[in-house]
Amino acid sequence: MDAPGFTEFAKAMIDYITDYLENIRDRRVLPTVEPGYIKPLLPDEAPQTPERWEDVMADIERVIMPGVTHWGSPKFHAYFPTAQSYPAIVADMLSGAIACIGFTWIASPACTELEVVMLDWLGKMIDLPAEFLACSGGKGGGVIQGTASEATLVALLGAKVKKIRQVKEEHPDWSDPQIIDKLVAYGSNLAHSSVERAGLLGGVKFRLLETDSKHRLRGETLQEAIRQDKEKGLIPFYAVSTLGTTSSCTFDRLDEMGVICNREEVWLHVDAAYAGSAFICPEFRYLMKGVELADSFNFNPHKWMLVNFDCSPMWLKDPTYVINAFNVDPLYLKHDMQGSAPDYRHWQIPLGRRFRSLKLWFVLRLYGVENLQKHIRNHVSQAHEFESLVSADSRFEIVEDVILGLVCFRLKGSNDLNENLLKRINGSGNIHLVPSKIKDTYFLRLAICSRYSESKDIQYSWQEIKLRANEILEEQSISK
Ligand SMILES: Cc1ncc(COP(=O)(O)O)c(C=O)c1O
Repeated sequence: MDAPGFTEFAKAMIDYITDYLENIRDRRVLPTVEPGYIKPLLPDEAPQTPERWEDVMADIERVIMPGVTHWGSPKFHAYFPTAQSYPAIVADMLSGAIACIGFTWIASPACTELEVVMLDWLGKMIDLPAEFLACSGGKGGGVIQGTASEATLVALLGAKVKKIRQVKEEHPDWSDPQIIDKLVAYGSNLAHSSVERAGLLGGVKFRLLETDSKHRLRGETLQEAIRQDKEKGLIPFYAVSTLGTTSSCTFDRLDEMGVICNREEVWLHVDAAYAGSAFICPEFRYLMKGVELADSFNFNPHKWMLVNFDCSPMWLKDPTYVINAFNVDPLYLKHDMQGSAPDYRHWQIPLGRRFRSLKLWFVLRLYGVENLQKHIRNHVSQAHEFESLVSADSRFEIVEDVILGLVCFRLKGSNDLNENLLKRINGSGNIHLVPSKIKDTYFLRLAICSRYSESKDIQYSWQEIKLRANEILEEQSISK
């Protein structure tokens, strides 16, 4: 493709994207295709000669869109949101054009330096303690990981190296495998699956601890687990505090866990994947009380802060241990400026990394903090609007306090009844929800996800839920 061809194609694509997004509400949120749908729509082999871009363009509606779940639709209420916005899409275009791989400072100085500054901007926006920020002049700083799962694993690996070093000072004769065999990490039994997986990938024991009646991991539970494990000769080294659990958006008691972790020399990582974006609003910062006691903190602007996937900033008070954990130094990656700026290859699992900070820069500048705060507050108020509708219908119950943009609710009655309700809702394809289960209670989760979401969408979703509930309750009463 030559430059004039690119200009034409890109302009047509921008028109297509704008039309897609501005009218996304009108599409069926869930596709109706069956597995294997795409193969018959495509030739068996790649074309030998170039095709026309117009033909590729025409195939988006024919081949791709029938199999797309429209995550950006205001009728999409599943999981947690994934963000998108025009500034972030444009930034990704530029990142694609620059196409640098910023593994070291010299590999593209702007890629590293913009990231350092953006993580200071963002850290200040959520009022992270200065120790986490590069601009404080201390050891601390941030890095953009691809996902929260990577951040949890990276922190665990850093904590593992730190603890092995510490133990070796006391027991110089112990081998690494002997120490690793005794290491034990902690999280709540409502932590995201990626937390337990970090333990598996890191080759250490991971204990998932019980939460209290409000589904929060408490300090005393962690303390007791540590006591038991130390008694068995194990070595506690890492704990994850979840702020905004995936199941029902509850908040571990970070302040209590922090005191214990600091006393026991256990690395404390904060997983605020979804909820972290809300901390740009001062009124939600009470939920991160105790953050000054953590060693590492992570959230996903790609969930709720209008930055397209992937963008998962992570801050470390002392990145040395992570850097040491991953430091392999071949000659071809060395450069003269080593030590004067971060070489981010040491802060992450892959070597290669995209210019992700561009989309953060564009979004922060083109929205401004005020509009991002408005976005969060809009979603929270729509969640409360939905909560009021559910609460006013005596057939339903709310099963968790609504704090941010997630409402957990169910029909009063059995799990089977609620499973049927969800099947009906998703089967109709007009809106999309996913379920959750805590302590044997099955419930439905309605997350406010779309940047297009308005009160009328909440009303629509509630009508749809009521309609499906009416259907199954009627059928149930007929069959009795
Ligand atoms: C609390 C929590 N942690 C971690 C994750 C995983 O996020 P990622 O896909 O960025 O790894 C999620 C995903 O929803 C989450 O809710």
